[in-house]
Amino acid sequence: MKESGKPGLKNWLFLLFYFLLVVYALVYEPNNLIVTHESFDFLGGTNDTPNPVRIAFISDIHIGLQRNGWLDAVVDRVNGQEPDIVLIGGDVIESDASELERLAPLARLNATYGTFAVVGNHDYGLWGCGATNTTADKVVAKLESLGIDVLRNEHRIIGGNSGFALIGVDDEWSCYDDYRAAAAGVPDAMPKVILAHNQDSVAQDAASGPGLILAGHTHCGLVRVPFITQAVLGPGFGSVLGGRARLDDDTEAYVTCGITGGGIRFLTSPEISVIDIK
Ligand SMILES: [Fe+2]
Repeated sequence: MKESGKPGLKNWLFLLFYFLLVVYALVYEPNNLIVTHESFDFLGGTNDTPNPVRIAFISDIHIGLQRNGWLDAVVDRVNGQEPDIVLIGGDVIESDASELERLAPLARLNATYGTFAVVGNHDYGLWGCGATNTTADKVVAKLESLGIDVLRNEHRIIGGNSGFALIGVDDEWSCYDDYRAAAAGVPDAMPKVILAHNQDSVAQDAASGPGLILAGHTHCGLVRVPFITQAVLGPGFGSVLGGRARLDDDTEAYVTCGITGGGIRFLTSPEISVIDIK
């Protein structure tokens, strides 16, 4: 006897499941900005800074993709964490300098030691070696006009000589990254917080002394499928796609999923990363 062409209950349930999965990944999770908490113990307890030092770390703003009011809400949530220092991991724009005016809410970021940033590949307006500085220079000028200290292969000492070095590395995909120049003059034994858009641009060089690398760029792979996401995207985007990783005896890395909304995300919620170091 010929079977009816109507789908059975089981098929309807499968369809419903996949529909909900798609709604979750395209609508809910990309817009579900969460606050995550991590702590790292490497400062040694002899510094002049608070114990712990609270870092609010945001990355991958991609302001051209965001709706009006979104960044204001992000800034309110960052300030609500009462950070000692705010770090921005690059890719503040999506594609060109016409987006810069929309970064104005960043001027309200409030932290004891201030706000620091590095630039990412999108801030150069072109992906890959050979990008000129034109767009990135405008991004840097805008961020600095908002009171943000942009570190392009340079460092600052936070909390005096018994504090820690904050080292900012320029963008790797644009071939402007130079960790050694950024860290020049920082004593090996001094604890280091290394801010880079792409974690891989410093992983090889950061082995001297206690340190923590903070990076973004990967959006945690956007769709997290165990083993597969890392295998497919890792070679192009980063040896660490998201979360914590120990690189050697005294160096760890944390790669944030970034805060950008829109697009697709599955098990990679956009995040404000609150990181306590002591
Ligand atoms: Fe990026």
